[in-house]
Amino acid sequence: MKPTNVNLNENKSAVVILDQTKIPNEEIYLELKTAKEMYDAIFELKVRGAPAIGICAAYSIYILAKNINADDYNEFLSVFKENKEYLNSSRPTAVNLSWALERMEKVVISNKGKSIDDIVDLLEREAIEIQEEDIEMCRKISELGLSLLEKEDGILTHCNAGPMATSLYGTALGPILLGQEKGYNFRVFADETRPLLQGARLTSYELDKADVDVTLICDNMASIVMKNGWINACLVGCDRIAANGDVANKIGTSGVAILAKYYNIPFYVLGPTSTLDMGCKTGNDIKIELRDGNEIKEKFYKKPMAPKRVNTYNPAFDVTDNSLITAIITEKGICRPPFKESLLKISKK
Ligand code: MRU
Repeated sequence: MKPTNVNLNENKSAVVILDQTKIPNEEIYLELKTAKEMYDAIFELKVRGAPAIGICAAYSIYILAKNINADDYNEFLSVFKENKEYLNSSRPTAVNLSWALERMEKVVISNKGKSIDDIVDLLEREAIEIQEEDIEMCRKISELGLSLLEKEDGILTHCNAGPMATSLYGTALGPILLGQEKGYNFRVFADETRPLLQGARLTSYELDKADVDVTLICDNMASIVMKNGWINACLVGCDRIAANGDVANKIGTSGVAILAKYYNIPFYVLGPTSTLDMGCKTGNDIKIELRDGNEIKEKFYKKPMAPKRVNTYNPAFDVTDNSLITAIITEKGICRPPFKESLLKISKK
């Protein structure tokens, strides 16, 4: 089965993505052919979710490499690097973007003696491999995550870490979707996730489509559903995991973790080891993307929602302190505190 969110087109001249900004109203596929179209698709969140961004970048740089008109290897490498830097600058927080582009660059560098045509073929193979690994990663994370849950659990999730953000079940939504296939009866609460509403538009859409019992709540309602005793576990995805277990994920995640600690509810982060950045010692080293304030004031409303002149602060991510995290579930195993040790061990597997 081919993933539905990011692929190559038939004649390998474009990256085809599901435009996530149009969900839940329309399922529209876009063909990305130029570097600008690829950059914009990532920046504008047409393709989003850390693993999906990485896969899109890998296919994108392959298409761009195919079109490089170079006389020799050095010229090819220099244009390849320009494309890489450009795509890499589209969003700063999800490490999967640079991780995938680095992997692609390694193919070019380690095959220096080969013809450019051969290198381009190897680039295609590497991009496909990144996507195939992602499918396998989803399967493993879903199974491991499911092993931590009970059949009738109430689950709260924030943002969207489902099939659209990956190549199969997703990460945070993985155990839920796998559980659904196995006859579990989870009751899921999806935070709407302001300002761009990934929870409302994407998570509730994906879970509803799979017939999961999902209830959409506004972000400021997480506390009451926990207090009501409806939540047995929180499952969230991640964009970058620092070496000490601090985790960057969609803005609002750290608030959910603080609430979960207060109500004594396990808080699980689910993500592939490609999201682990051992180069970041703590969450303070993670660059948080700051986005246009109009996303808060106007993006999803016909009329402006706030005075035009009002100041805004619109960070797209926040960092959850490792002390609030019960476990980090990766495709290579479940890491528990102390994370410095468990993450180091898993990074060497
Ligand atoms: O700004 P977004 O929508 O790209 O943010 C996405 C998230 O925060 C996800 O939880 C994360 O990328 C994991 S997706 C498997």
